[in-house]
Amino acid sequence: MNVVVVGGNGGIGSALVNVLAADPKINKLFSFSRCQGAAKTTCDKVIYGFVDLERESSIQQMGNSLEGEELDLVIVASGLLHDQDLKPEKSLRALQMANMQRLFMINSIAPALIAQQLIPKLRKRGRTVFAVISARVGSISDNRLGGWYSYRASKAALNMLLKTTAIEVNRTHPDAIICGLHPGTVDTSLSSPFQKNVPENKLFSPQQSAGYLLDVISKLESDDSGKVFAWDGDEIPA
Ligand SMILES: NC(=O)c1ccc[n+]([C@@H]2O[C@H](COP(=O)([O-])OP(=O)(O)OC[C@H]3O[C@@H](n4cnc5c(N)ncnc54)[C@H](OP(=O)(O)O)[C@@H]3O)[C@@H](O)[C@H]2O)c1
Repeated sequence: MNVVVVGGNGGIGSALVNVLAADPKINKLFSFSRCQGAAKTTCDKVIYGFVDLERESSIQQMGNSLEGEELDLVIVASGLLHDQDLKPEKSLRALQMANMQRLFMINSIAPALIAQQLIPKLRKRGRTVFAVISARVGSISDNRLGGWYSYRASKAALNMLLKTTAIEVNRTHPDAIICGLHPGTVDTSLSSPFQKNVPENKLFSPQQSAGYLLDVISKLESDDSGKVFAWDGDEIPA
């Protein structure tokens, strides 16, 4: 199998790279991110590449660098909730156009452009998977608490882009599965400011979550394309 992880330097992304690197079924493992940092393994099947998801040309270059490869599995593990300039909004008053645009760029638009580049490289015959890490808070029907306007909306938009992609891809690649995944609440820099009220047994390590997600991916069937699944395999409603 040939596998791509986008966001391979993130908390969940680097755990996925480490688990996948140890899988003897995997021949080549491409890990793309802005920097490699601590995620770099010495395993020689891992090939590191650069991508900046805020630049369309960088996503195109990532696609070009995979010319001639036949991919079996793509996992997009990148995403943004907060950084030094941006916090999830608690109220309408906090909305700012530039922050909203950045979240939509990284969480919704970039995964769609990655799909544009990498889905044509999925193996034509046999089961293939294009999975993007979404979030339960992107479910409109599950939104009971409000808040986190842009993050929620960017993940809801991501889920719609994945559903639309699944419908198109089914015409040419009936065995390809396009899906969103909710990793649970995972102890990474993305969740660290928001872990206070999470019970200890509900906070997964990145390794735990990566294991759950790969298990869910391994059980997906063609009819699951276009849907979003949680770490335990349950479907998350739109
Ligand atoms: N942690 C949770 O509890 C949780 C819950 C639900 C959903 N999720 C989702 O899970 C996914 C992974 O999150 P995580 O917890 O592993 O967070 P993380 O450790 O912050 O990793 C996020 C990754 O996204 C990458 N990224 C952000 N902006 C980028 C850009 N412009 N270009 C290239 N890469 C960029 C980061 O790259 P750099 O390393 O270069 O900064 C980082 O590797 C996200 O989609 C998140 O929304 C997480």
